[in-house]
Amino acid sequence: MYILGIETSCDETALCILQPTAQGYRVVSELINSQISTHQEFGGVFPALAKREHIKNIYLLFAASLHEAGQLIERTEKIDIPEEKKQMLARILDKDETNYFALISFYERYEVPAISHVAVTYGPGLEIALWTGFNFARAFAELFDIPLLPSHHMEGHIFASLLERTEPGSKELILHKPAHPTLSLLISGGHTELVISEKPHIYKKIGKTLDDAVGEAYDKSARLVGLPYPGGPLISKLAESFKEKGLVNDIELPRPMLYTKDYMFSFSGLKTAVRTLVQKQPEITDEFKEKMSHALEEAIGEVLVKKTKNALEEFGIRNLIIGGGVSANTHLRREFTKVCQELDVQLFLPDKAYTGDNAVMITVAAHQRFLYGKIPVNQTVVKGNLSLEEI
Ligand code: KG4
Ligand code: ZN
Repeated sequence: MYILGIETSCDETALCILQPTAQGYRVVSELINSQISTHQEFGGVFPALAKREHIKNIYLLFAASLHEAGQLIERTEKIDIPEEKKQMLARILDKDETNYFALISFYERYEVPAISHVAVTYGPGLEIALWTGFNFARAFAELFDIPLLPSHHMEGHIFASLLERTEPGSKELILHKPAHPTLSLLISGGHTELVISEKPHIYKKIGKTLDDAVGEAYDKSARLVGLPYPGGPLISKLAESFKEKGLVNDIELPRPMLYTKDYMFSFSGLKTAVRTLVQKQPEITDEFKEKMSHALEEAIGEVLVKKTKNALEEFGIRNLIIGGGVSANTHLRREFTKVCQELDVQLFLPDKAYTGDNAVMITVAAHQRFLYGKIPVNQTVVKGNLSLEEI
Protein backbone atom coordinates (compact mmCIF):
# COMPACT_ATOMS: atom_id res chain seq x y z
CA MET A 1 0.00 0.00 0.00
CA TYR A 2 1.45 3.33 -1.09
CA ILE A 3 0.00 6.74 -0.24
CA LEU A 4 0.84 9.79 -2.31
CA GLY A 5 0.84 13.07 -0.36
CA ILE A 6 0.75 16.63 -1.66
CA GLU A 7 1.18 19.95 0.15
CA THR A 8 0.88 23.36 -1.54
CA SER A 9 -0.63 25.61 1.14
CA CYS A 10 2.07 28.26 1.06
CA ASP A 11 5.48 28.57 -0.55
CA GLU A 12 6.57 24.95 -0.64
CA THR A 13 5.54 22.40 -3.25
CA ALA A 14 6.01 19.16 -1.35
CA LEU A 15 5.25 15.59 -2.38
CA CYS A 16 5.90 12.22 -0.83
CA ILE A 17 5.03 8.57 -1.10
CA LEU A 18 4.59 6.74 2.20
CA GLN A 19 4.06 3.12 3.02
CA PRO A 20 2.28 2.31 6.31
CA THR A 21 4.27 -0.06 8.55
CA ALA A 22 3.58 -1.78 11.88
CA GLN A 23 5.22 1.04 13.82
CA GLY A 24 4.34 4.00 11.60
CA TYR A 25 5.44 4.80 8.07
CA ARG A 26 8.26 4.20 5.63
CA VAL A 27 9.24 7.19 3.51
CA VAL A 28 9.51 5.75 0.01
CA SER A 29 10.12 9.11 -1.59
CA GLU A 30 10.03 12.69 -0.45
CA LEU A 31 10.61 15.79 -2.56
CA ILE A 32 10.22 19.45 -1.86
CA ASN A 33 10.64 22.60 -3.90
CA SER A 34 11.01 25.67 -1.74
CA GLN A 35 10.13 29.01 -3.31
CA ILE A 36 12.02 31.11 -0.76
CA SER A 37 14.31 32.69 -3.34
CA THR A 38 11.30 33.60 -5.53
CA HIS A 39 9.58 35.48 -2.71
CA GLN A 40 12.62 36.98 -1.03
CA GLU A 41 12.60 40.21 -3.05
CA PHE A 42 9.01 40.84 -1.87
CA GLY A 43 9.96 40.33 1.78
CA GLY A 44 7.23 37.69 2.16
CA VAL A 45 5.12 35.22 0.21
CA PHE A 46 3.58 36.71 -2.93
CA PRO A 47 0.43 34.56 -3.52
CA ALA A 48 0.18 34.79 -7.33
CA LEU A 49 3.82 33.83 -7.69
CA ALA A 50 3.36 30.96 -5.25
CA LYS A 51 0.56 29.61 -7.44
CA ARG A 52 2.63 29.99 -10.61
CA GLU A 53 5.52 28.06 -9.03
CA HIS A 54 3.22 25.29 -7.73
CA ILE A 55 1.69 24.86 -11.19
CA LYS A 56 5.11 24.77 -12.78
CA ASN A 57 6.60 22.25 -10.37
CA ILE A 58 3.89 19.92 -9.18
CA TYR A 59 3.88 17.48 -12.10
CA LEU A 60 7.69 17.37 -12.20
CA LEU A 61 7.83 16.52 -8.51
CA PHE A 62 5.01 14.00 -8.93
CA ALA A 63 6.80 12.19 -11.76
CA ALA A 64 10.09 12.31 -9.87
CA SER A 65 8.43 10.88 -6.72
CA LEU A 66 7.00 7.98 -8.68
CA HIS A 67 10.36 7.43 -10.35
CA GLU A 68 12.08 7.33 -6.97
CA ALA A 69 9.49 4.81 -5.79
CA GLY A 70 10.12 2.66 -8.89
CA GLN A 71 6.60 3.34 -10.13
CA LEU A 72 7.22 5.37 -13.26
CA ILE A 73 7.07 2.56 -15.78
CA GLU A 74 6.59 3.22 -19.51
CA ARG A 75 3.78 1.28 -21.13
CA THR A 76 4.92 -1.12 -23.80
CA GLU A 77 1.97 -0.06 -25.91
CA LYS A 78 0.69 3.48 -25.76
CA ILE A 79 -3.04 3.78 -25.00
CA ASP A 80 -5.47 6.64 -25.49
CA ILE A 81 -7.16 8.17 -22.49
CA PRO A 82 -10.94 7.39 -22.44
CA GLU A 83 -13.08 10.40 -23.34
CA GLU A 84 -14.90 10.48 -19.99
CA LYS A 85 -11.59 10.61 -18.11
CA LYS A 86 -10.48 13.46 -20.32
CA GLN A 87 -13.67 15.38 -19.59
CA MET A 88 -13.29 14.76 -15.87
CA LEU A 89 -9.72 16.17 -15.99
CA ALA A 90 -10.93 19.18 -17.98
CA ARG A 91 -13.59 19.86 -15.37
CA ILE A 92 -11.27 19.64 -12.36
CA LEU A 93 -8.27 21.28 -13.98
CA ASP A 94 -10.17 23.95 -15.90
CA LYS A 95 -7.85 26.65 -14.58
CA ASP A 96 -4.66 24.63 -14.86
CA GLU A 97 -4.04 23.73 -18.47
CA THR A 98 -0.41 22.76 -17.79
CA ASN A 99 -1.36 19.94 -15.48
CA TYR A 100 -4.40 18.94 -17.51
CA PHE A 101 -2.11 18.07 -20.42
CA ALA A 102 0.53 16.62 -18.11
CA LEU A 103 -1.92 14.15 -16.55
CA ILE A 104 -3.34 13.13 -19.93
CA SER A 105 0.09 12.27 -21.26
CA PHE A 106 0.96 10.57 -17.96
CA TYR A 107 -2.09 8.32 -18.31
CA GLU A 108 -1.30 7.47 -21.91
CA ARG A 109 2.39 6.91 -21.43
CA TYR A 110 2.86 5.14 -18.10
CA GLU A 111 1.55 2.04 -16.39
CA VAL A 112 -1.04 2.58 -13.64
CA PRO A 113 1.04 3.43 -10.54
CA ALA A 114 0.59 1.35 -7.37
CA ILE A 115 -0.78 4.27 -5.36
CA SER A 116 -3.72 3.33 -3.13
CA HIS A 117 -4.69 6.77 -1.68
CA VAL A 118 -3.90 10.44 -2.30
CA ALA A 119 -3.61 12.82 0.64
CA VAL A 120 -3.66 16.56 0.05
CA THR A 121 -3.90 19.77 2.08
CA TYR A 122 -7.28 21.50 1.67
CA GLY A 123 -6.70 24.23 4.27
CA PRO A 124 -5.76 26.40 5.99
CA GLY A 125 -3.38 28.38 3.80
CA LEU A 126 -3.32 30.63 0.78
CA GLU A 127 -6.39 29.59 -1.22
CA ILE A 128 -4.82 30.40 -4.54
CA ALA A 129 -1.92 28.08 -3.67
CA LEU A 130 -4.05 25.35 -2.06
CA TRP A 131 -6.15 24.95 -5.22
CA THR A 132 -3.18 23.81 -7.30
CA GLY A 133 -2.28 20.86 -5.08
CA PHE A 134 -5.87 20.04 -4.25
CA ASN A 135 -7.10 19.92 -7.85
CA PHE A 136 -4.04 17.98 -8.97
CA ALA A 137 -4.62 15.39 -6.22
CA ARG A 138 -8.34 15.22 -6.94
CA ALA A 139 -7.75 14.77 -10.65
CA PHE A 140 -5.20 12.02 -9.97
CA ALA A 141 -7.53 10.26 -7.53
CA GLU A 142 -10.39 10.30 -10.02
CA LEU A 143 -8.16 9.29 -12.89
CA PHE A 144 -7.25 6.05 -11.12
CA ASP A 145 -10.37 5.64 -8.96
CA ILE A 146 -8.64 5.81 -5.61
CA PRO A 147 -9.73 7.63 -2.43
CA LEU A 148 -8.81 11.27 -1.87
CA LEU A 149 -7.78 12.03 1.72
CA PRO A 150 -8.17 15.78 2.41
CA SER A 151 -5.73 16.90 5.09
CA HIS A 152 -5.78 19.81 7.55
CA HIS A 153 -2.44 21.65 7.45
CA MET A 154 -2.33 22.31 11.21
CA GLU A 155 -3.30 18.74 12.07
CA GLY A 156 -0.37 17.89 9.82
CA HIS A 157 1.93 19.96 12.03
CA ILE A 158 0.59 18.07 15.08
CA PHE A 159 1.34 14.73 13.45
CA ALA A 160 4.80 15.92 12.34
CA SER A 161 5.68 16.16 16.02
CA LEU A 162 4.51 12.63 16.72
CA LEU A 163 6.87 11.12 14.16
CA GLU A 164 10.31 9.90 15.14
CA ARG A 165 13.00 8.33 13.00
CA THR A 166 14.13 4.90 14.14
CA GLU A 167 17.68 6.29 13.84
CA PRO A 168 19.24 9.44 12.35
CA GLY A 169 18.84 9.49 8.58
CA SER A 170 16.47 6.52 8.60
CA LYS A 171 13.43 6.43 6.32
CA GLU A 172 11.50 4.45 8.92
CA LEU A 173 9.25 6.63 11.04
CA ILE A 174 7.67 5.63 14.33
CA LEU A 175 4.27 7.22 14.94
CA HIS A 176 3.80 7.99 18.64
CA LYS A 177 0.28 7.86 19.99
CA PRO A 178 0.23 9.85 23.23
CA ALA A 179 -2.66 9.30 25.63
CA HIS A 180 -5.38 11.94 25.52
CA PRO A 181 -5.91 14.66 26.49
CA THR A 182 -3.05 16.34 24.69
CA LEU A 183 -2.19 20.01 24.46
CA SER A 184 -0.77 21.33 21.18
CA LEU A 185 1.05 24.60 20.81
CA LEU A 186 1.00 25.41 17.11
CA ILE A 187 3.41 28.13 16.04
CA SER A 188 3.92 28.97 12.39
CA GLY A 189 3.94 31.85 9.95
CA GLY A 190 0.15 32.07 9.95
CA HIS A 191 -0.90 30.51 13.27
CA THR A 192 -0.35 30.70 17.00
CA GLU A 193 -2.79 28.42 18.78
CA LEU A 194 -3.18 26.40 21.94
CA VAL A 195 -5.38 23.41 21.25
CA ILE A 196 -6.68 20.65 23.51
CA SER A 197 -7.54 17.27 22.11
CA GLU A 198 -9.66 15.08 24.41
CA LYS A 199 -10.16 12.43 21.73
CA PRO A 200 -8.26 11.56 18.55
CA HIS A 201 -8.92 14.05 15.73
CA ILE A 202 -11.17 16.29 17.85
CA TYR A 203 -9.78 19.67 18.78
CA LYS A 204 -10.79 22.56 20.99
CA LYS A 205 -8.95 25.84 20.67
CA ILE A 206 -8.35 27.44 24.06
CA GLY A 207 -6.13 30.26 22.85
CA LYS A 208 -4.86 32.03 19.79
CA THR A 209 -3.22 35.22 18.68
CA LEU A 210 -5.32 38.35 18.42
CA ASP A 211 -3.09 39.77 15.70
CA ASP A 212 0.26 38.57 14.32
CA ALA A 213 1.36 34.93 14.49
CA VAL A 214 4.70 34.14 16.18
CA GLY A 215 6.35 33.41 12.83
CA GLU A 216 5.12 36.77 11.57
CA ALA A 217 6.64 38.51 14.59
CA TYR A 218 9.96 36.89 13.69
CA ASP A 219 9.69 37.68 9.99
CA LYS A 220 8.51 41.29 10.39
CA SER A 221 11.09 42.11 13.07
CA ALA A 222 13.80 40.55 10.92
CA ARG A 223 12.78 42.75 8.02
CA LEU A 224 12.99 45.85 10.22
CA VAL A 225 16.61 45.12 11.05
CA GLY A 226 17.39 44.35 7.40
CA LEU A 227 17.40 40.54 7.46
CA PRO A 228 15.94 38.67 4.46
CA TYR A 229 12.74 36.59 4.44
CA PRO A 230 12.09 34.25 6.23
CA GLY A 231 13.55 35.93 9.28
CA GLY A 232 12.87 33.22 11.85
CA PRO A 233 15.88 30.97 11.22
CA LEU A 234 18.24 33.97 10.95
CA ILE A 235 16.98 35.60 14.15
CA SER A 236 17.39 32.27 15.88
CA LYS A 237 21.00 31.99 14.69
CA LEU A 238 21.92 35.54 15.70
CA ALA A 239 20.25 35.13 19.09
CA GLU A 240 22.25 31.97 19.73
CA SER A 241 25.51 33.67 18.85
CA PHE A 242 24.67 36.54 21.24
CA LYS A 243 23.92 34.01 23.95
CA GLU A 244 27.28 32.30 23.45
CA LYS A 245 29.06 35.56 24.21
CA GLY A 246 27.57 35.58 27.71
CA LEU A 247 26.88 39.34 27.60
CA VAL A 248 24.04 41.19 29.32
CA ASN A 249 21.48 42.45 26.81
CA ASP A 250 20.53 46.09 27.34
CA ILE A 251 17.56 45.75 25.00
CA GLU A 252 14.34 44.66 26.70
CA LEU A 253 11.22 44.09 24.62
CA PRO A 254 7.65 43.94 26.02
CA ARG A 255 6.02 40.62 26.99
CA PRO A 256 2.55 41.12 25.47
CA MET A 257 -0.35 39.65 27.47
CA LEU A 258 2.01 37.75 29.77
CA TYR A 259 -0.21 38.17 32.82
CA THR A 260 -3.68 37.94 31.29
CA LYS A 261 -5.63 35.06 32.77
CA ASP A 262 -6.52 33.60 29.40
CA TYR A 263 -4.65 31.85 26.60
CA MET A 264 -4.72 34.68 24.13
CA PHE A 265 -1.56 36.07 22.55
CA SER A 266 -0.66 39.31 20.83
CA PHE A 267 2.57 39.77 18.94
CA SER A 268 1.99 42.83 16.76
CA GLY A 269 3.25 45.16 19.51
CA LEU A 270 6.65 43.49 19.35
CA LYS A 271 7.37 44.65 15.82
CA THR A 272 6.28 48.17 16.82
CA ALA A 273 8.73 48.06 19.72
CA VAL A 274 11.45 46.80 17.37
CA ARG A 275 10.63 49.55 14.86
CA THR A 276 10.89 52.25 17.53
CA LEU A 277 14.30 50.99 18.65
CA VAL A 278 15.51 50.68 15.05
CA GLN A 279 14.50 54.26 14.31
CA LYS A 280 16.58 55.45 17.25
CA GLN A 281 19.70 53.72 15.96
CA PRO A 282 22.11 55.84 13.93
CA GLU A 283 23.29 52.63 12.25
CA ILE A 284 22.05 49.02 12.25
CA THR A 285 25.21 47.19 13.18
CA ASP A 286 25.70 43.42 13.33
CA GLU A 287 25.99 43.77 17.09
CA PHE A 288 22.58 45.50 17.23
CA LYS A 289 21.03 42.76 15.07
CA GLU A 290 22.32 40.11 17.47
CA LYS A 291 21.06 41.94 20.54
CA MET A 292 17.66 42.55 18.98
CA SER A 293 17.35 38.93 17.90
CA HIS A 294 18.17 37.75 21.40
CA ALA A 295 15.73 40.21 22.99
CA LEU A 296 12.98 39.10 20.62
CA GLU A 297 13.56 35.43 21.36
CA GLU A 298 13.50 36.01 25.10
CA ALA A 299 10.24 37.99 24.90
CA ILE A 300 8.46 35.50 22.63
CA GLY A 301 9.80 32.50 24.56
CA GLU A 302 8.67 33.84 27.93
CA VAL A 303 5.11 34.46 26.77
CA LEU A 304 4.76 31.12 24.96
CA VAL A 305 6.22 29.13 27.84
CA LYS A 306 4.16 30.86 30.54
CA LYS A 307 0.80 30.47 28.80
CA THR A 308 1.50 26.89 27.77
CA LYS A 309 2.60 26.02 31.30
CA ASN A 310 -0.59 27.59 32.70
CA ALA A 311 -2.70 25.50 30.33
CA LEU A 312 -0.86 22.27 31.19
CA GLU A 313 -1.44 22.95 34.88
CA GLU A 314 -5.01 24.18 34.65
CA PHE A 315 -6.18 21.23 32.56
CA GLY A 316 -3.86 18.66 34.14
CA ILE A 317 -2.44 17.61 30.77
CA ARG A 318 0.60 15.31 30.61
CA ASN A 319 1.39 15.38 26.89
CA LEU A 320 2.52 18.51 25.09
CA ILE A 321 2.90 18.66 21.31
CA ILE A 322 4.70 21.60 19.73
CA GLY A 323 4.41 22.00 15.98
CA GLY A 324 4.74 24.46 13.11
CA GLY A 325 7.67 26.19 11.44
CA VAL A 326 8.70 28.11 14.57
CA SER A 327 9.15 24.83 16.47
CA ALA A 328 12.56 24.64 14.75
CA ASN A 329 13.69 27.39 17.11
CA THR A 330 16.58 26.31 19.35
CA HIS A 331 15.71 28.62 22.25
CA LEU A 332 12.09 27.45 22.35
CA ARG A 333 13.06 23.78 22.10
CA ARG A 334 15.45 24.22 25.00
CA GLU A 335 12.99 26.17 27.17
CA PHE A 336 10.10 23.78 26.58
CA THR A 337 12.31 20.77 27.27
CA LYS A 338 13.21 22.31 30.64
CA VAL A 339 9.62 23.13 31.58
CA CYS A 340 8.32 19.72 30.61
CA GLN A 341 11.00 18.04 32.72
CA GLU A 342 9.99 20.19 35.69
CA LEU A 343 6.30 19.38 35.22
CA ASP A 344 6.90 15.74 34.31
CA VAL A 345 5.07 16.28 31.05
CA GLN A 346 5.98 14.34 27.93
CA LEU A 347 7.08 16.66 25.15
CA PHE A 348 6.71 15.90 21.45
CA LEU A 349 8.83 18.04 19.14
CA PRO A 350 9.16 17.49 15.40
CA ASP A 351 12.27 16.08 13.80
CA LYS A 352 14.19 19.04 12.33
CA ALA A 353 13.28 17.89 8.80
CA TYR A 354 9.57 18.12 9.62
CA THR A 355 9.29 21.45 11.44
CA GLY A 356 8.53 23.37 8.25
CA ASP A 357 5.86 22.55 5.71
CA ASN A 358 6.21 19.08 4.21
CA ALA A 359 4.11 16.40 2.58
CA VAL A 360 4.91 13.63 5.07
CA MET A 361 2.96 15.28 7.89
CA ILE A 362 0.01 15.96 5.59
CA THR A 363 -0.09 12.33 4.52
CA VAL A 364 0.19 10.91 8.03
CA ALA A 365 -2.50 13.23 9.45
CA ALA A 366 -4.97 12.40 6.68
CA HIS A 367 -4.23 8.68 6.69
CA GLN A 368 -4.68 8.46 10.47
CA ARG A 369 -7.96 10.33 10.18
CA PHE A 370 -9.00 7.95 7.39
CA LEU A 371 -8.23 4.90 9.56
CA TYR A 372 -10.21 6.50 12.38
CA GLY A 373 -13.21 6.94 10.08
CA LYS A 374 -13.27 10.74 10.20
CA ILE A 375 -12.03 11.74 6.75
CA PRO A 376 -14.07 14.30 4.78
CA VAL A 377 -15.74 12.65 1.79
CA ASN A 378 -16.62 14.28 -1.52
CA GLN A 379 -14.52 17.31 -0.66
CA THR A 380 -14.38 19.49 -3.76
CA VAL A 381 -13.20 22.82 -2.38
CA VAL A 382 -10.27 24.21 -0.41
CA LYS A 383 -10.72 26.52 2.55
CA GLY A 384 -8.13 29.15 3.36
CA ASN A 385 -9.28 29.70 6.93
CA LEU A 386 -10.17 26.10 7.79
CA SER A 387 -10.19 25.72 11.57
CA LEU A 388 -9.13 22.66 13.54
CA GLU A 389 -12.46 22.78 15.35
CA GLU A 390 -14.62 22.36 12.26
CA ILE A 391 -13.10 19.15 10.95
O1 KG4 B 1 4.88 26.10 9.31
P1 KG4 B 1 5.67 26.96 8.40
O2 KG4 B 1 6.80 26.36 7.64
O3 KG4 B 1 4.73 27.65 7.37
C1 KG4 B 1 3.44 28.06 7.72
O4 KG4 B 1 2.55 27.18 7.73
O5 KG4 B 1 3.32 29.24 8.08
O6 KG4 B 1 6.22 28.19 9.28
C2 KG4 B 1 7.00 29.21 8.74
C3 KG4 B 1 7.42 30.17 9.83
C4 KG4 B 1 8.11 31.42 9.27
O7 KG4 B 1 7.53 32.54 9.89
C5 KG4 B 1 9.57 31.23 9.71
O8 KG4 B 1 10.26 32.45 9.91
C6 KG4 B 1 9.39 30.46 10.99
O9 KG4 B 1 8.36 29.55 10.72
N1 KG4 B 1 10.63 29.76 11.40
C7 KG4 B 1 11.30 30.02 12.55
C8 KG4 B 1 12.43 29.17 12.54
N2 KG4 B 1 12.40 28.42 11.41
C9 KG4 B 1 11.28 28.80 10.71
N3 KG4 B 1 11.05 30.88 13.54
C10 KG4 B 1 11.92 30.91 14.56
N4 KG4 B 1 13.02 30.14 14.64
C11 KG4 B 1 13.32 29.25 13.66
N5 KG4 B 1 14.41 28.50 13.75
ZN1 ZN C 1 2.85 25.21 8.17
